Amino acid sequence: MQSPSQPASPKPTVLIVDDEPQIRNIMSDTVESLDCDSIQAADISQARQALEQPIDLAAILCDQRLPDGSGLDFCRELKKTSPDMIRILITGFPDMKVAVAAINDGEIFRFVSKPFEVSELRGIIREAIDKNRLVKENQRLHSALVGANDQLQKANASLQKALSSSFALCVDIIDRFDHVLASHSSRVAKWAVAIGKQFALSQDQLATLEIAGQMHDIGLISSSRSTHGNQQIGWEELSPLPQTAMHNHPKTGAELTRFLQYNDVPEILIAHHEWFNGGGYPYGLAGERVPLLSYMIAVPDAYDEVPMSRSDAAKFIEENLGIRFHPEAGRAFLRILNENPEMTKQEREVLLTELQNGMKLSCNLYSPTGMMLVPKGQSLTPKLIQYIHQHNLSDPITQRIFIES
Ligand SMILES: [Fe+2]
Ligand SMILES: [Fe+2]
Repeated sequence: MQSPSQPASPKPTVLIVDDEPQIRNIMSDTVESLDCDSIQAADISQARQALEQPIDLAAILCDQRLPDGSGLDFCRELKKTSPDMIRILITGFPDMKVAVAAINDGEIFRFVSKPFEVSELRGIIREAIDKNRLVKENQRLHSALVGANDQLQKANASLQKALSSSFALCVDIIDRFDHVLASHSSRVAKWAVAIGKQFALSQDQLATLEIAGQMHDIGLISSSRSTHGNQQIGWEELSPLPQTAMHNHPKTGAELTRFLQYNDVPEILIAHHEWFNGGGYPYGLAGERVPLLSYMIAVPDAYDEVPMSRSDAAKFIEENLGIRFHPEAGRAFLRILNENPEMTKQEREVLLTELQNGMKLSCNLYSPTGMMLVPKGQSLTPKLIQYIHQHNLSDPITQRIFIES
């Protein structure tokens, strides 16, 4: 038997509350025969004192009739204050109605009537100890799971943040390297996502498609700006060095984005110049060997890059369905074009001296020190044009300027 002042034991401890010392001793012997410790209390008041000790009580054997109150009422109280402690009620006046109600309400675990068989009592105490152990193990596993989930969520959030930052950085690098390439990439991303929606892609696939669309030409940053407009037609006529850079840009893009660990993006990038009939580059892959998402990028990519008017570019797409382009992706794009005439808008480069009232910038305008002078999308007013010219006089603007047309 353990006194209330003893330190906590690793063995399960059972609180015994009965006003008859002889009965308490029998119950203590029964508890200790199960390799458990016991604490005795003669009434509810002593039991409360025991509960104040730093001992983790696994179960309570409580007499119904106690000098200072009802055992069942005390068990009801314990259900609220120590819900993990398994409660067993013992009485010399069996009342089945009280017993069934108390068990059904979850107030007590078992009801034992006096006189009891020691072997029966031992079995019930063993069950109570096992139940308490299970409850504790469940709580331990639950908190471990909650902790692991918390860590996983934090890791996911930090990974997402890192991916968003690296994506924003890449988009910014492309824009600073060549604004024409950056705005082409934005249009391709937007239109590829529109095609993806026609194919009912999942949100994850659409997000991948948007990243791949924005990044599809990132491999071109290893070549000179002058070669960029020649991806779709005529690049074969370039001198060998830029031709190699152009031919390799899907591979270079895949290598760069593999470094950033964007799921399927490298595989999509590497195939964005492959043709449906196998006539593309860099590997001459055909049909289903080319990822569907690469085909969804290839169509708006060609539409935006071929040196033709928008209406001729649309005809070019139509004539090449099943040749260069995945037929269904191409058809989806042509339908999107028909339904969204504003997609035929283009941008053109202007000189500072050509800026006019009402023109809308399609790029951010920066000072040479990187300070933003006018944001993209801003309509120009005479006052704004004067501000740009004045700034140019004191600190010449060196970037290229593009407006919506
Ligand atoms: Fe490309
Ligand atoms: Fe492109």
